[in-house]
Amino acid sequence: MKSLSFLLISFFFLTGCARRGSVNEMHVAERMRAYGCVSCHTIPRISGAEATVGPPLDRLGSRTYIAGVLPNSPENLSRWIQHPQSIHPGTAMPEMGVTKSDADEIAKFLGSLK
Ligand code: HEC
Repeated sequence: MKSLSFLLISFFFLTGCARRGSVNEMHVAERMRAYGCVSCHTIPRISGAEATVGPPLDRLGSRTYIAGVLPNSPENLSRWIQHPQSIHPGTAMPEMGVTKSDADEIAKFLGSLK
């Protein structure tokens, strides 16, 4: 029983932290490394993300279009991250099996880069 309460408290503490700040950048950075975004993009505030295969993701929150084809909004950014190939068939950005919750979180972070 004691360990169950501990688990519950830790869970609420962690999810609370993730929601309170606008974006949990440490978690976003960890996810972006895990999916390999950093091997193609230069991304502000993500250490080690200095690749030049794809466009730099600086000031993404100020762009009008995502990848030149999709009007920029948090929903569309999340869609792009999950399914670039269905939005822009043949683009060099691969489908990486990004989950919706990870894509939403990454999109929120990228959208905050003004
Ligand atoms: C194999 C290289 C590669 C990987 C891995 C990759 N991308 Fe991309 N990404 C690209 C390329 C190339 C483009 C340009 C696509 C286009 O214009 O059709 C792009 C475009 C984008 C754009 C639109 C940028 C703009 O200027 O409009 C975003 C946002 C983006 N990627 C996010 C991500 C995220 C988040 C990940 C990880 C989940 C990721 N990318 C992984 C190559 C990659």
